[in-house]
Amino acid sequence: MRIAAKLLTSCVLSGSILMGLALAAPASADVGQAANGRGEALFNLCTQCHGSAGEGKHNIEAPAIAGLPTWYVTTQLNNFRSGARATHFDDIQGMRMRPMAMSLTGEGDVEAVAAYVGSLPVTYPVATLEGGDAAKGQSAYMLCGSCHGMDGNGSEPQGGPPLAGQSDWYILSQLEKYKAGIRGRDPRDAFGMMMQPMSLTLADEQAMKDVIAHIMTLKPAN
Ligand code: HEC
Ligand code: HEC
Repeated sequence: MRIAAKLLTSCVLSGSILMGLALAAPASADVGQAANGRGEALFNLCTQCHGSAGEGKHNIEAPAIAGLPTWYVTTQLNNFRSGARATHFDDIQGMRMRPMAMSLTGEGDVEAVAAYVGSLPVTYPVATLEGGDAAKGQSAYMLCGSCHGMDGNGSEPQGGPPLAGQSDWYILSQLEKYKAGIRGRDPRDAFGMMMQPMSLTLADEQAMKDVIAHIMTLKPAN
């Protein structure tokens, strides 16, 4: 299914949409869902900020989302919709995202666009931060790895999204939000509330940069 999704994505990206549909036709239901074009059509609402390949845009602080697992994208879109994420007064970036999630009002829209996002190949963002010590960060990451995977590719049972393949500036911004109680404080956001106290183990900006420098050495799985 993964391979079919990748083939489909590369075909769609190269413009051979019909060929992609033919290749994906015998595959499973969620590839079929992406292939029916609904997820892809909805994704047009996202590219303005997240980029045409889902690679993210630093200048508008929209993260890379390509290849994030469907379960995680679904959870986040539902959190944005309900206000469990991005209703804190200081969450300026979250407030840019929230209306977009709220515009997904059709039944199955969230799942369709999340499946499409999940089918996109992970992008490799360039490093933007300086001064992190990856060796020091590696020992701090031992804790993180229990929920995000030691290889940084995430863990669905723990609710921890992949961190490998994410932009360094976005990881820093989210750690700062958790530390400040801007994200992960809403009682409806059970997974965010698990992450919030973990952010407090990173004492200062240097500790965050060190662990991020280590994360940047990890390779995305797809
Ligand atoms: C107006 C710009 C904009 C548009 C359009 C937009 N987003 Fe976002 N999105 C953002 C920003 C900014 C963030 C970062 C929020 C933060 O810092 O907490 C974000 C965050 C996200 C996240 C959370 C990523 C993570 O790792 O937790 C997901 C998932 C997401 N967007 C999906 C989408 C999808 C799907 C669409 C299209 C339906 C979309 N976005 C449209 C700006 C946008
Ligand atoms: C007890 C499990 C657990 C541990 C340990 C943990 N995390 Fe998390 N983390 C999570 C969960 C669950 C989420 C998703 C929260 C949500 O759904 O909003 C998350 C989210 C994040 C995010 C946001 C990612 C995104 O795409 O928006 C970052 C960044 C992050 N964690 C970094 C770390 C770092 C760095 C460490 C180690 C210092 C760490 N985490 C330790 C469970 C954990």
